[in-house]
Amino acid sequence: MTEAWTSVEQVEAKTLKALFAAEDDRLQRLTLEEAGIRFDFSKTHLSAQAIAAFERLAEAQDLAGARDALFAGAEVNPTEGRAAEHSAERGQGAPESVARSSAFHARMRALIDAIEAEAFGPVRHILHIGIGGSALGPDFLIDALGRDAGRYEAKIVSNVDGAALEEAIADFDPHATIIAVASKTFTTMETLLNTRSALAWMEQAGVSDPYGRVVALTAAPDKAVEFGVDETRILPFSETVGGRYSLWSSIGFPAALALGWEAFEQLLEGAAAMDRHFRLAPLHRNAPVIAAFHDRYYANVRKSQTRAVFAYDERLRLLPSYLQQLEMESNGKSVTLDGAPVGRETSLITWGGVGTDAQHAVFQLLHQGTHLVPVEFVAAVEPGHALDEEHHRQLLINCFAQGAALMAGKSSEDPHRNYAGDRPSTTILLDRVDPFTIGALLAFYEQRTFVNAVLLGINPFDQFGVELGKSMAKAIDNGEDLGFDPSTKALMARAFGE
Ligand code: F6P
Repeated sequence: MTEAWTSVEQVEAKTLKALFAAEDDRLQRLTLEEAGIRFDFSKTHLSAQAIAAFERLAEAQDLAGARDALFAGAEVNPTEGRAAEHSAERGQGAPESVARSSAFHARMRALIDAIEAEAFGPVRHILHIGIGGSALGPDFLIDALGRDAGRYEAKIVSNVDGAALEEAIADFDPHATIIAVASKTFTTMETLLNTRSALAWMEQAGVSDPYGRVVALTAAPDKAVEFGVDETRILPFSETVGGRYSLWSSIGFPAALALGWEAFEQLLEGAAAMDRHFRLAPLHRNAPVIAAFHDRYYANVRKSQTRAVFAYDERLRLLPSYLQQLEMESNGKSVTLDGAPVGRETSLITWGGVGTDAQHAVFQLLHQGTHLVPVEFVAAVEPGHALDEEHHRQLLINCFAQGAALMAGKSSEDPHRNYAGDRPSTTILLDRVDPFTIGALLAFYEQRTFVNAVLLGINPFDQFGVELGKSMAKAIDNGEDLGFDPSTKALMARAFGE
């Protein structure tokens, strides 16, 4: 492994222009078309030599074996003693896991049918309460795909700040609302507190059986029952589906309800198509694999600290937030699977925004700042609106121009007006924003995250780093004095007057 890393680190650094000049087939080699998505990695510093070195690293790290283990439902998350079976949710996994997921999906569909048949009376609003992986996926899906659905109005509430819930329910009719409580563990403080307050809102409005309007989406059905949710309204999913990988499971319930079951199935099909590509394509033509080589190249060879994702499509505006959790919670680690220091940079810090807004705000740094930030543009050929087509033409023109400008630069004798250029970007161009393509796109990001972890030898499926802050908050809540530092004590005294 060290030897393989050394040859990656020793890859000759060439400029993007030099790479295009030296490699005739560069565009064709580094452009992949899969499941309605074009991935163009040609404006990155991945040379043919770099890809070959990464392929050797992938072999040294037994990527093929790790991939097989993932899909076979083996224990790829050893620190929690679990498999990671999000792919089984889309039919790609061990037969027994796929069968279990299908049974859970059938249960979800039956409840959706019941809601549509007005078993809960007329329902117009879905109040989805969850946080992290139990919120970001559904939020992204509904925002991206649900604009014209017109079926139900869905709001996602995650923050424990009461202002979030207050705003969400302001225009909701409590008598026509279903509360979807999404929590894998059903112990998350924010989610339970928000749910209690939502129930109180219903009660105050005279809803006769508020608990009867709660649907629980969870891998801990016993806890949901303890909370007061009737077993018939619990939609379970498997413990082996990680929170940030869970939108395919019953956590996707509000999306399936708002978009319709057929759309949800297409989402799963798109993800399955990407899974098949990931399993079968040779490494040098494999989109998640090449993307992970890209990430490792910039993190470990060029020492970039961040990567930026810009959605050149309003419908994809929540993609950067979704990816932040997926990538940073998965690979923000310091030790390898056996607990040894990993010895190299792990997750890039994911950030980003929406084009063209970001061009007028943060692109200055990308063009002339001192950091080398690999940029990712995500756009769609078909527009998401019925206004004059000039809007979409300008949107895409700007997207493509930014990639070209980052690479080309422009020299000037005036140092203030000089653009060094040679700044990398990847363009991900969707045929259209539809459930199938979005499913494929999100599965691409999941598998890319997995490949990054395999190359680093880390576990992408646990998240112990989030526990310490939670337990300290609990201690403060319980009035325990953990010997807090003077600064924390003073802040508590100022806020709570203690
Ligand atoms: O605190 C982090 C985390 O555990 C995430 O991994 C997870 O997606 C989120 O909290 C919510 O957890 P739960 O679904 O159990 O409420």
